[in-house]
Parts: sequence; structure tokens; C-alpha cells
Amino acid sequence: MKILITGASGKLGTQLVQQLSGEHTVVGADIVGDHVERLDITNYSACQQLMQAHQPDIVCHPAAWTDVNGCALDPQKAILINGVGAHNMAVTSAQFNIPILYVSSNEVFDGKLNRPYTEFDQTNPINPYAYSKWYGERAVQQVNPKHYIVRTAWLFAHGGGNFIQAILNAVKAGKSLRVVTNEVANPTYTNDVAEAIASLITTDRYGIYHFVNQGAVSRWKFARYALNQAGYTDTPIAQISRHQWQRPSLPPEYTPLDNIAGKSMGITFRSWQDAVDDFLSKESV
Ligand SMILES: NC(=O)c1ccc[n+]([C@@H]2O[C@H](COP(=O)([O-])OP(=O)(O)OC[C@H]3O[C@@H](n4cnc5c(N)ncnc54)[C@H](OP(=O)(O)O)[C@@H]3O)[C@@H](O)[C@H]2O)c1
Repeated sequence: MKILITGASGKLGTQLVQQLSGEHTVVGADIVGDHVERLDITNYSACQQLMQAHQPDIVCHPAAWTDVNGCALDPQKAILINGVGAHNMAVTSAQFNIPILYVSSNEVFDGKLNRPYTEFDQTNPINPYAYSKWYGERAVQQVNPKHYIVRTAWLFAHGGGNFIQAILNAVKAGKSLRVVTNEVANPTYTNDVAEAIASLITTDRYGIYHFVNQGAVSRWKFARYALNQAGYTDTPIAQISRHQWQRPSLPPEYTPLDNIAGKSMGITFRSWQDAVDDFLSKESV
């Protein structure tokens, strides 16, 4: 297959390019980065031209504005990139009669359920980033019948810019750590999501999927586990509640995802602890 991947310079996009290049012809596109086609997904004509130029068999669309606090401060920009950008990719893929895989977020749920969210639960976004991702989901569903929506959560990836590296860097810089105890989701390794997406796109089984490593954990326990495994067992991490960490974008409190749809077709995930161990074994910590 020929696969067009948006957001190809981002955390998940980079891994998707790597994972899918083995078996497929991959065209990576992004608004930033080297060795990718330049594409601003908010520019409808540019999306059409890129599609026309490359004639892919499927589009994988992880590109997004993922700065959740930025989205809270500028909700219109969030809708433009995450909503209208997804709509542009959905319309143009539908025009070429090819499927689209849209990457979404656990934040489309409000966090008030007392169990992990399945693919069949009601969405209810509670902040501007979440609303923009939900809007993107709806646009894709309305416009292109051949759609996969893959929701994921708390991604960690090689190459910087994620929670594990942020706490390790803070420890190495001698900073004291304070981490929230009452926000819960699934820490998830981009390598595992990319592998699952590689399986999913060969199936034609369109619909909504929850691709996360198994197990739900608080931010604090996630931090504690990662530090212990990296050898910093004696480094203290102060426990704080979510209201003690003021941010422009307050995430939903409890949004672990349950992978029911993928499991039913044999796409399963290892535990988040095994994924963190594997991640750390490949990093120089
Ligand atoms: N990270 C997480 O914990 C997490 C959790 C749940 C769901 N997700 C979803 O998973 C997907 C991938 O996340 P990620 O962490 O890999 O994101 P990422 O590292 O921020 O990558 C997204 C890429 O899209 C690019 N982009 C932004 N605006 C664009 C535009 N107008 N046109 C084209 N490209 C644009 C970004 O460029 P800039 O760097 O310049 O913005 C970046 O290279 C996203 O859809 C996100 O919503 C992420």
C-alpha cells in the first residue's frame, strides 16, 4: 500500500513512518521537520494537491495541535487545526475514495465514569483541546464512510518531549518533583500504537478503536514506576491533587480506555509497565 502520514515529524507520526515503511510505501507530511512533505492541514487546497500528487491508498492522520494549554488559551486555533484540519483530510480522502485513520484522544470523555471507557461509551469533551479532537472525530465520521478512529492516551516516545523524559530531566537537574495523584489514564508507548495501527489498516474493519497499553494508573504512580525502573528509587516525588497544579487546560479526571474492539479481532496490548521497561531499555537513562 501507499500510505500518506500527516504529523510525520511528531511523536506518533515518526513511529508510524518507521513502522509502516518496512512493508509499505510511505509519504510523510508535516508543517515542520526535515525529510517530510510540507503540509499545513488547515489549507484545503494544499491537502487536495498533496493527495493528487501522491495518490495514496490510505491516509493516517495523527497531525494535531497537541499543546493542550495552548488550545485552552486559543480555542479557535485548536478548532482550526484539530477540527477543520481533520475535516480537510476527511473530505479529500473521501474524494479519492480512500480510507482515513484519524488519531484521537482519551480526553473526548468527561472522566466521570467509574470504569474504563469502551469504544461504545458516550463522549463529552470538557476542555477546548478535547472539544477540538471530538470535533475532528465527528467531521471524519460524517464525511468519509471509510474511517478508523483510533483513540489513545498519555503517549511516550523516543526523541524527547514526553512525561517520562520530563521527570527524568527534572531529577537529573536536581529539581524537586510534585506530581498529581488523582488523574488516571493509560501510559502508552508510541511503538505499540504504531504496531497496532499497522495491523488495523489491513483489515477494512472501519470504526472506533481504543489503542492503549493495558492498565490504569495515576500520574504519580506512573512517575514513581518510571523513576524506580530508571534507578532513582530514593528520589522523592511529592503527591499533589490536580487542583494544586494550576493549568489553563484541566484534563478529565479518570479516562482510562478499554480496548474491546481491537481485542475482538486479535489486536492486544502489553501492560503499561512492560512498555515502560522496554522504552527505558532503549533510552540512555
Ligand atoms: N501525546 C499524547 O499524550 C496524546 C494522547 C492522546 C491522543 N493523542 C493524539 O495523538 C496524535 C499524535 O500525538 P503526538 O503526541 O504524536 O503529537 P505531536 O508530537 O505534537 O505531533 C503532531 C504533529 O502535527 C504537527 N502539526 C501541527 N499543526 C499542523 C498543521 N496545521 N498542519 C500539519 N501538521 C501540523 C505538529 O507540528 P508542531 O510540533 O509544529 O505543532 C507535530 O509535528 C494527535 O492527534 C493527538 O491528539 C496524543
